[in-house]
Amino acid sequence: MQLINTKKELRSLLSSLDKIKVLGLVPTMGALHLGHISLVERSLGENDITVVSIFVNPTQFNNREDLANYPKTLDRDISLLRSVSEDIIIFAPSPQEMYTGDITSKSYNFEGLDTVMEGEFREGHFNGVGTIIEKLLTLVAPTRAYFGEKDFQQLQIIRKLVQTLAIPVRIIGCPIVREPNGLAMSSRNERLPKALRQEAAFIYSTLQGAKEKFGTKSADFVMDWVRDQFGSKQNFKLEYIKIADEKNLRPIITKEKDTDYRAFIAVYIGDVRLIDNIAL
Ligand code: PAJ
Repeated sequence: MQLINTKKELRSLLSSLDKIKVLGLVPTMGALHLGHISLVERSLGENDITVVSIFVNPTQFNNREDLANYPKTLDRDISLLRSVSEDIIIFAPSPQEMYTGDITSKSYNFEGLDTVMEGEFREGHFNGVGTIIEKLLTLVAPTRAYFGEKDFQQLQIIRKLVQTLAIPVRIIGCPIVREPNGLAMSSRNERLPKALRQEAAFIYSTLQGAKEKFGTKSADFVMDWVRDQFGSKQNFKLEYIKIADEKNLRPIITKEKDTDYRAFIAVYIGDVRLIDNIAL
């Protein structure tokens, strides 16, 4: 286990490694849970060395308060990673170290992947994600980089980023890890009072209901049904439910053969915003 805070140290450590070593990168913002760990374990299984970055990236937050409230648990994260494997390099830079100079985003053309769903409700978010991921991929130059399907839109945008910039890396998408009641694991779950955290399983059970209905009903019918479910649910505010083509994230018009669809949802429980999705 090595803990590194600067790009220079990381570069020198990586360049001292045997050239034939295969590198995996798992970018995170810390506050690690079993969802993150599933990515780390997959990387450990497929590569000689795994770099886990822990960096709360300021440019992807469109709300100062959200950034200020983001949990920082570096000591716990380090112990958790250590309990998984000693063969991990943790890279935990400061914002100044990562950005040197202005902490601003580049502007990317993600060909519309960024204007729907999360992009619609979180302005500038994906340019911030693109900026930090481009920096990390360039710095670490991994063979593979791991991302969760929990943030499916982010995963597709990162695939587009590496394709457009011709960055030689394999982007590996990993399945969503859930709590025993079905709630998708997220560092934000910690902010829910216990009773609401149990109740939040409703999000996934509704997505499962949507999946079942999508077998025989139209997309509009299914989305209306989801809205109805949330309409009668106290404490929950549905921000969006969308059914879209998995590849280009365009909203479904009519069901096409040979197209994979996915339902995407964002819900507020009090001031905690949760997202989830399901393959249909
Ligand atoms: P963060 O929210 O910390 O998530 C890091 C990675 O863990 C992402 O790829 C995310 O999709 C994955 N992940 C989170 N919860 C998961 C779950 N329940 N099951 C499976 N995977 C899960 O996403 C980010 O950070 C940032 O945007 C980042 C990519 C690091 C750029 O700053």
